Amino acid sequence: MTRGRFIALEGGEGTGKSTQSRLLADALTQRGITVELTREPGGTPGAEAIRALLLHPPGEGWGAEAEALLFAAARADHVARRIRPALEAGRWIICDRFVDSSRAYQGVAGGLGERAIVALHEIGSGGLRPDLTLLIEVDERTTAARIAGRDGDGTDAIGGRQAEYHRDVAQAFRRIAEADPEGFAVIDGNGDPQDIHQRIWRAIAPLLER
Ligand code: TYD
Repeated sequence: MTRGRFIALEGGEGTGKSTQSRLLADALTQRGITVELTREPGGTPGAEAIRALLLHPPGEGWGAEAEALLFAAARADHVARRIRPALEAGRWIICDRFVDSSRAYQGVAGGLGERAIVALHEIGSGGLRPDLTLLIEVDERTTAARIAGRDGDGTDAIGGRQAEYHRDVAQAFRRIAEADPEGFAVIDGNGDPQDIHQRIWRAIAPLLER
């Protein structure tokens, strides 16, 4: 049994990751590949319950450390119960966000430091890395328009943070991707969704050959 491939999509808010995850999963399915489309935080009943706590926190909200631990706990469940079993059974995983979101949001923008996040990921999920991470980048103005069109004023606890926080996130993603050119493909996320999908399809082509 050949192990399945693990592809993560990363980027800031409103970069079109969810749309592109679906288009990619559909295209792979059409090629006869068995694909599971999933997301973080979430992807298992336990992790989805933690997602609700993270995005709509009870009381006064989480401190930076508690927030990072909750993301790591959700990921540990997702990896153990869903991602690893799927890969071992030969299925492909397309995941809308993974550990690099924690590195960029909690580690850099949230100030905990990337080393702490990587250490938590080692403990929680055995340090599992995707075979390829697609970083989708869009102009700041496009993102703002997409977010406004998507949820009006109903943003969640993290999406609703200051513009500066989100700028730090975007810069962190870029730096993380540049430090690992083998593990990342940076995708221009501006323009028509079908054109962006074609860029992604070209980027994942080497995974189809192996
Ligand atoms: P979601 O609605 O999935 O956002 P988006 O559509 O922008 O991907 O909500 C996930 C939120 O959680 C988003 O604001 C990013 C944040 N997040 C982290 O801060 N750390 C993480 O490790 C993950 C996976 C997500």
